[in-house]
Amino acid sequence: MAAHRKILVTSALPYANGSIHLGHLVEYIQTDIWVRFQKMRGHECHYVCADDTHGTPVMLRAEQEGITPEALIERVHREHLGDFTDFHIAFDNYYSTNSEENRELSQDIYRKLKAAGLIDIRTIEQLYDPQKQMFLPDRFIKGCCPKCKAADQYGDSCEVCGATYAPTDLIDPYSAISGATPILKESEHHFFKLGECESFLKQWLLENQQPPLQAEATNKISEWFESGLKDWDISRDAPYFGFEIPDAPGKYFYVWLDAPIGYMASFKNLCALKGLDFDSYWREGSDAEIYHFIGKDILYFHALFWPATLKFSGHRTPTKINVHGFLTVNGQKMSKSRGTFIMARTYLNHLNPEYLRYYFAAKLSDRIEDIDLNVEDFAARVNSNLVGKYINIASRSAGFIKNRFDGQLCATLDDAGATLLATIQHKQPQIAELYENRQFSEAMREIMALADVANEYVDETKPWVLAKEPGREHELQQVCTTLINAFRLLTLYLKPVLPQLSSQIEAFLHIAPLQWGDATTLLLDQQINAYQHLMTRIEQKQIDALLAESVTTLKPQPTSSAPSKTPPKEQATKEVKMDQINYDDFAKVDLRIARIVKADHVEGADKLLQLTLDIGEEKTRNVFAGIKSAYSPEQLEGKLTVIVANLAPRQMRFGLSEGMVLAAGPGGEELWILEPHAGAQPGMKVK
Ligand code: MSP
Ligand code: ZN
Repeated sequence: MAAHRKILVTSALPYANGSIHLGHLVEYIQTDIWVRFQKMRGHECHYVCADDTHGTPVMLRAEQEGITPEALIERVHREHLGDFTDFHIAFDNYYSTNSEENRELSQDIYRKLKAAGLIDIRTIEQLYDPQKQMFLPDRFIKGCCPKCKAADQYGDSCEVCGATYAPTDLIDPYSAISGATPILKESEHHFFKLGECESFLKQWLLENQQPPLQAEATNKISEWFESGLKDWDISRDAPYFGFEIPDAPGKYFYVWLDAPIGYMASFKNLCALKGLDFDSYWREGSDAEIYHFIGKDILYFHALFWPATLKFSGHRTPTKINVHGFLTVNGQKMSKSRGTFIMARTYLNHLNPEYLRYYFAAKLSDRIEDIDLNVEDFAARVNSNLVGKYINIASRSAGFIKNRFDGQLCATLDDAGATLLATIQHKQPQIAELYENRQFSEAMREIMALADVANEYVDETKPWVLAKEPGREHELQQVCTTLINAFRLLTLYLKPVLPQLSSQIEAFLHIAPLQWGDATTLLLDQQINAYQHLMTRIEQKQIDALLAESVTTLKPQPTSSAPSKTPPKEQATKEVKMDQINYDDFAKVDLRIARIVKADHVEGADKLLQLTLDIGEEKTRNVFAGIKSAYSPEQLEGKLTVIVANLAPRQMRFGLSEGMVLAAGPGGEELWILEPHAGAQPGMKVK
């Protein structure tokens, strides 16, 4: 490997329609540690990222909030960058895919792919919302699962039985946006002919001297090759928040076309700011290295579409794509109801970000397996390793140097001290190798083993005993000088993981920012500053408060879900944080007391009851409610309940539904409609 490397590093661009959570942070912390390590070694390393801003979810969410998509993505950009900064993720540039650089690069790349004969235009049929007047992405179509008949499933897969299918297979499909029944409609789409890139991709992925993927990822890709590479639909019809396709009015690039180009755009923007040469990184044959850090759910896009896009638009391909697994909390998928779907900001309200950086480092490897945040293990490891072993070395020695020797370190060491420090120094190349290969958990293990050796030295030399014995001052000073040096070396090794703590320690030791090469030197015959408390233990009550603040019982909104990431099977989690609303938002919902005048079975519908409701208006309302699994018509007639009276009417196969009855429970027999206390009258407003 070259002595001085030119390295460009990216993390995946987070969607601009949701907040950063601890799952995301696995990736940004992993990348940031690696980047900080490269910078400490003196390589030229640039770390860029951006918000992934385009697509239907952002468009609809902005509409819901009554603001422009531009205003929404600007707000989210500020929020995301604030979260990342507070976790000490040090991007050199955090940009946006909705930028001029990205528009130009995307259009230019598209034109080159077209000139290379790789764009095909075909007419396809897709589900269309006649009320909202837009084509519906799979995630915005809901209906009954064709396999298990579970109600309210998404258009691409069933959460109940796990089946995957086309949205057209759904029974009684409806638009998650308007509730209307979708119709099939034709439209011209632009396709990238991925099939024609197969031989290049096979060669690049499978026959490469320096494989760009981990072996586990390569195996996955081989399966995809076996099932054949399908052409990729890269266009979407208006209305769509994105970039228009050149010479194709009303057609927009699908968000996943311009998202990875956003890596380039962010770097291009940085180049302009810093006077760097963009082409020297991206041109074919460039000797710079490019690394993408991604989660396993977006492998297909990065290992197939992206290199093919680069190659056939005349660019170089990435050096490596580093794939990590998903975060689980206490052994399970993050869950809102268990309080384990933890937002970055919620964490910051209770705990030091460097605890999490250390814990993730102690868990991360170069493998794709999922990593678990076990909250008990988290507290135990941080307390015993970081505070108990590492910080302990300083807290046992620094006070004596300051109080007894006026902050002065010895000029020479005794043999035992010199041996200890040599042991720590000798590990430097091995630890470097582990960082380079992203074997962070191994690196942490090695570093903590060195901390153990230093603590054994403390136990043997007993500085607190020396301090009480007259005439042993010099011995005490030497032992403490050794310990301060051990602490300095361990700090250097941990610096990529604990940047904030390291800079506090650099101030305390009165030294310049530690570089990787500084491990060959020692700190002798110098003054240090007074020791200030560096890090406290995690207390159980902090963890309890974090989990309590993370519990949400509200259901996610369909429009907040991310764009589909199929073809890969792993889906991003569907649980999305619900935003707080103000009273005005709530007041928009017209809730009324209703009397169930009549309840009937519906011919041909196995989930629905037809309700005739008196809500104090001249005419009764007709509502179809999916409560047949829990109620018979007789149980309901004459009862009072609550309905949403101003919900847009929905045309169903059986007739028009003019409102929605409120009910709670997971479904099936466990479903309970709301009933007011005695005295409420039909038509009364619920507020
Ligand atoms: N916008 C796309 C990426 C476009 S890159 C050109 C996207 N965004 S995301 O916000 O859903 O995810 C961003 C990154 O965070 C992805 O690499 C994803 O794998 C990772 N993670 C999201 N949730 C995660 C966990 N629960 N655990 C670990 N990583 C996770 O995908
Ligand atoms: Zn199902």
